[in-house]
Amino acid sequence: MQLTKPFFVLAPMDDVTDTVFRRIVADCAPADYTVTEFVNVDGLCSRGRSKVIRKLGVELDTTPVIAQIWGKTPENFETIAREIADGTIPGFAGVDLNFGCPEKSVVKNECCSAMQQPELRDKALAIIQATKKGASSASRRIPLSIKTRLGFDKIDYTWHEFLLEQKPAMLTVHVRTTRQMSKVPAQWSAIEPIVALRDKISPDTKIVLNGDIMNKKQGIELAKKHGVDGIMIGRGIFHDPYAFALESPWADVSREDRIKLLKKHIELHDQTYPDGERPFSPLKKFAKLYISGFPGASELRDKIMHTETVAEALEVLG
Ligand SMILES: Cc1cc2nc3c(=O)[nH]c(=O)nc-3n(C[C@H](O)[C@H](O)[C@H](O)COP(=O)(O)O)c2cc1C
Repeated sequence: MQLTKPFFVLAPMDDVTDTVFRRIVADCAPADYTVTEFVNVDGLCSRGRSKVIRKLGVELDTTPVIAQIWGKTPENFETIAREIADGTIPGFAGVDLNFGCPEKSVVKNECCSAMQQPELRDKALAIIQATKKGASSASRRIPLSIKTRLGFDKIDYTWHEFLLEQKPAMLTVHVRTTRQMSKVPAQWSAIEPIVALRDKISPDTKIVLNGDIMNKKQGIELAKKHGVDGIMIGRGIFHDPYAFALESPWADVSREDRIKLLKKHIELHDQTYPDGERPFSPLKKFAKLYISGFPGASELRDKIMHTETVAEALEVLG
């Protein structure tokens, strides 16, 4: 795919960016790439595979999707990367390593953003090498990308230097440390030394800036200012499903069309997971996105929050 600079990526968000929501976003205004929710390779290689693998469904996608994986055991990273490359797990343009999740349970288990700590660098290297091996061992090679933060306790550019030495195709940096969670504003200019390291160590790696970026227009300005190749938008999409449009029509979208969009989301969810593989309840949080900006929106949202099934929600929406 020929990418314009900057290119745009819909951020991976657990319990949000499944194939249904990725399709909703693509139909409003598509990103250049999307990323799945993070999926555990150890779970995929266990008896519980059938439950976990549902997160890697791509049946509704119309935009290239990258599979994001995390876990503990290098051999399992290799196995899953190979399955993604050879099409056993079909439909992906690449594989992404989650080295950025700050959740306590994950960090305690020395996974994801814990990898940024210097004492775990050997483990990180083993995971990267295993994933690369899997991703290049099938007849179809797929690119490896990495998503991380600025460091664990503090900004640590030796981490990004180490990652760039592994020559990933893309390196996305959520410009906060793990300790900062999402509690402080994103430090956009902190990406600049990483761009300089890229120029020196791995000129072919695309650098993607992530954190507090609300829409395409702002993304274009920030990419120019900080010299990055791509922009990743996460929570901005909760404010505007057209976040990837240059000129979003969202402010002028009528009450009827907003309700229609929520109905479409619920109906696609129901068609995609007919056996309840993914529950209805987490869907309700999307009401805040669609049902806003018109008189009576908060009352309607409240009614939706009290529904318990797809049928009830559709009835409330009329
Ligand atoms: C509900 C939610 C779920 C998330 N799940 C993931 C995930 O599965 N993998 C990941 O790398 N990041 C995850 N993130 C982090 C986002 O991808 C992104 O890095 C972060 O929200 C900052 O970007 P933003 O300010 O544009 O939202 C999640 C964020 C949110 C809000």
